[in-house]
Amino acid sequence: MSLIQIGVLGAGTMGTGIAQVAAQSGHSVVLVDVNSEALKKSGDSLQKVLNRLVEKGKMDETQKEQIWDRIQFSSLYEDFKGCGLIIEAIVEKLEVKHEVFKRMEAIVSADCILASNTSSLSIASIGSALQKPERCVGIHFFNPAPLMPLVEVIPAVQTSAETLKKSKDLIDSWKKKSVIVKDTPGFIVNRVARPFYGEALRIYEEGIADFATIDWAMTSIGGFRMGPFTLMDYIGNDVNYTVTETVFEAFYYDPRFKPSFTQKRHKEAGYYGRKSGKGFFDYSENAVPAKANEDPKLGQEIFERILVMLINEAVDAVFLNIASREDVDVAMTNGVNYPKGLLKWADEMGLTVVLEKLETLFEEYGEDRYRPNPLLKRMVKAGQTFY
Ligand SMILES: NC(=O)c1ccc[n+]([C@@H]2O[C@H](COP(=O)([O-])OP(=O)(O)OC[C@H]3O[C@@H](n4cnc5c(N)ncnc54)[C@H](O)[C@@H]3O)[C@@H](O)[C@H]2O)c1
Repeated sequence: MSLIQIGVLGAGTMGTGIAQVAAQSGHSVVLVDVNSEALKKSGDSLQKVLNRLVEKGKMDETQKEQIWDRIQFSSLYEDFKGCGLIIEAIVEKLEVKHEVFKRMEAIVSADCILASNTSSLSIASIGSALQKPERCVGIHFFNPAPLMPLVEVIPAVQTSAETLKKSKDLIDSWKKKSVIVKDTPGFIVNRVARPFYGEALRIYEEGIADFATIDWAMTSIGGFRMGPFTLMDYIGNDVNYTVTETVFEAFYYDPRFKPSFTQKRHKEAGYYGRKSGKGFFDYSENAVPAKANEDPKLGQEIFERILVMLINEAVDAVFLNIASREDVDVAMTNGVNYPKGLLKWADEMGLTVVLEKLETLFEEYGEDRYRPNPLLKRMVKAGQTFY
C-alpha cells in the first residue's frame, strides 16, 4: 500500500515533532516554513533527536537515515502539491491562518485534507476561509509530539464525514491514541484540566496551604506525576495564564474558568517558572527546596477538593457531548499523564461521595464554579456508574 505524502506547515516546536512522527510512520513529508533560520533549526533539532534514538537503541543507523531522507525541508508552498494531508502548525493568529489555508488550497488536489494543530482557535473559523471547508479538520498534538500519545481530532460544523474518518484512521496508523472532540474551546484536555491549576491556586489564595504542600498532596496522595505549581512552572506561567484567560473568554466568561490573580502577578513579575529561573518555586543554583507541610488530613482535603472539581469538569464534557466518556478518560491519561481516567476515578470514589463533596463546596461558597453537574446528579439519583 502506498502511503500518502504528508505536508507540515511551520517548522517550529510542533511542526518539527509532527514531521518526525509522520516520517517515522513511513510517510514522505514536506515540511515548509517561510523562515529559513527556523528550517535550519528544525533540521538540527531533528538530527539530534534521531541520533539520541540511535544511541538509546530505539532504531539503527539505517532506519535513522531512512527517516531523515523522507523529510523534505522547504520554503515553498508549491512543494505541497502532491500531499494528501497537510497539518498547519504556524502562529496562533486567525488572519494568518486564513491566508495560509487559502494559499494551500490553491496548490493542492481537490481531495487533500487541510488540518490545523491550533490549540485555541475554532476549526470552524479556520475552515471558513476555504472553498471546500469540508476538507478542514483539527488535528491537535501535544508537546512533545513524538512522545505524547494523545491526538485530539476535531471535526468542525463544516467537516465531512469522509475527512474525519480519513484523518482519524491516519492518526491511528501512526500509533497515536486519537479521540474525537467537538469544536469547543480547549477541546478536551485544555478544558477538563483547568481546575488542576485553578482550584490549586484558589486553595493557596484562601491560605489553606502553600505551593509545596498543595504539590505534595497531589503527587504523594493523588499519584499525579507533577503537582500543579511545579507543572505551571514547567509549562511557563506566561503560557499557562494565557491559555486560562483564552478559555475563560471563549466560554463567555463562565466563572468556572476564572483566571487567578496569583498567577497573573507571577506572570507580570516575570516569574515564568523554570525558563526564567523563578516561578512559584526558585530554580536558581543554590535554592533551598520549599518544604511541604505533610499533614495527612490536610493533604487528603486538598487532593479531594481538586479531584472532585476535575471530575465535575470531565462529567460536563460528557454531559454536553464534547466527547465520549471513554475518550475523556483516554485524553486525560494520554495527553497530560493523569494516573487514572477521571470518570473511572469517579466510579471508584463513588458518585455519591463526589456529589456530596461538590454540594458541600457549593453550599459553603455559593459560587457557580462549585455547582455540581446535572448529569452527576441524575446518575446518583438513578444509582448509575460511568463504567
Ligand atoms: N507549543 C505547544 O505546546 C503547542 C501544543 C499544541 C498545539 N500548538 C499549536 O501549534 C501551532 C504552532 O505552535 P508552535 O509552538 O510550534 O509555534 P512555533 O513558534 O514554535 O513555530 C511556528 C513556526 O511557524 C512559522 N511560520 C509563521 N508564519 C508562517 C507562514 N505564514 N508560513 C509558514 N511558516 C510560518 C514560524 O517561522 C515558526 O517556525 C499553534 O497553532 C499552537 O497553538 C502548540
